[in-house]
Amino acid sequence: LATKNTNIRPDMQRVLPGRIMNILTKAGEVADKLNYQVYAVGGLVRDVLLKVENFDVDLVVEGNGILMANQLAAVLGGRVRTHEKFGTAEIIFPDGYWVDVVTARVEYYEYPAALPQVEQSSLRHDLYRRDFTINAMAVALNPGRFGELVDYFNGREDLQIGAIRVLHNLSFVEDPTRILRAIRFEQRYDMAIEPQTMRLIKEAVREKVIARLSTERMWGELKSILEEADPEHMLDRMSELGVWDYLFPEITFWEVQPVISEMPQALMILRNWGWAEPAEKWLPYFLAILHWTTQDTAYQICQRYNLGRRQTDKVLDTIAHWREALRRLSAPEDVPLSALNKIVQTLPREAYPLFLTLLEDKNAIRRFRLVMESVHKHKPTVNGKDIRDMGFKPGPLYRRALDSVWQARLDGLVQTREEELAYVRAYLEKHNAPKIEPNPPQPQR
Ligand code: CTP
Repeated sequence: LATKNTNIRPDMQRVLPGRIMNILTKAGEVADKLNYQVYAVGGLVRDVLLKVENFDVDLVVEGNGILMANQLAAVLGGRVRTHEKFGTAEIIFPDGYWVDVVTARVEYYEYPAALPQVEQSSLRHDLYRRDFTINAMAVALNPGRFGELVDYFNGREDLQIGAIRVLHNLSFVEDPTRILRAIRFEQRYDMAIEPQTMRLIKEAVREKVIARLSTERMWGELKSILEEADPEHMLDRMSELGVWDYLFPEITFWEVQPVISEMPQALMILRNWGWAEPAEKWLPYFLAILHWTTQDTAYQICQRYNLGRRQTDKVLDTIAHWREALRRLSAPEDVPLSALNKIVQTLPREAYPLFLTLLEDKNAIRRFRLVMESVHKHKPTVNGKDIRDMGFKPGPLYRRALDSVWQARLDGLVQTREEELAYVRAYLEKHNAPKIEPNPPQPQR
């Protein structure tokens, strides 16, 4: 069993990059000078014990967290954003990386004018407010104790036996997002929600606690799930536990489940074909979930979750075009590569994994692969700047000229860069693209 004296410094050194070890070490030194105790808590500790990389540093300070954040930032060379009311701060580094610092505070006083009960108890309080035992461990950072594991709730044992366990019975009522988090951690680490915690989830679902969540918080958790390496089992579990219907009441899980279950394989194949992971990692799965519904319903779902215009358009484009793209790619007659490419381009590239799961015809799959690979190989070298250098005014014809040269490359009509440039120039002249005007002559006196 883990005791307070377990020291995990060797695990930290093995798992954490030098940059993070340096931040943790400096945090301990700064805290010592201020006569505070400081700890790294939460996901980082859990993942060190699991020997999994995790770069999210959350510090809990027994003392003034904001003062601590300012001094640590000065030592490390970052700036600080503070939230005075909550006693929290972020140290933000020039490359955008950041570290969270929170003040551990006691919520109660022995009697009205008493000093708060600080010492060890404030850390314990902070940890007790957290979601699961595996996320409620801390590691001491002060030089004299660096690496000492603080584990009040047997989180380490739960990690070993693979149990997702809440700290108290009101956990899901206090924060219903934890239902989704329980599913996420269970599936991510191949653990099991332990029986009492499972009873509490079922009770909370029966009591409809999820309905009390803002759509913003729901979306936050949903997105986290869709960005995991393997969301498909999490989505299964959401359906099993009756959570799906709160997130997508308009969509019957069993209608989209077959496609979702094929997504991991489709993603793997596409990566082999040169498809790069999109910046919005959640979007391929989101499209798989929505593809079967109508544009109207999809639009409502996008509105509800406050998606941006660009993302909403990708959802609507996918729904509008996948059937037709499927039909045309499966057509028996020969089609030039540029035409195949045009068909595929009616879909946003985030929809390609979904599209691959929908392709059944061998010939269609072969064509899709051809497009994927050749698009990569034949990406033209000319760009907007080249066109500008030719003296054409920026405008909508730029994009059309670039699209057209791409098609020409796919069909082998142009090959060298010189041919590309000549092709683009000819295209723009043919379409009467306006030229950049020379500076008007200054009026003469
Ligand atoms: N936490 C919590 N309840 C929540 C959200 C977070 O108790 N609803 C606590 C947990 O202790 C968690 C920590 O805050 O470990 C940090 O939260 P977050 O960064 O969301 O999760 P991680 O555990 O770091 O998980 P991930 O690996 O997905 O980032």
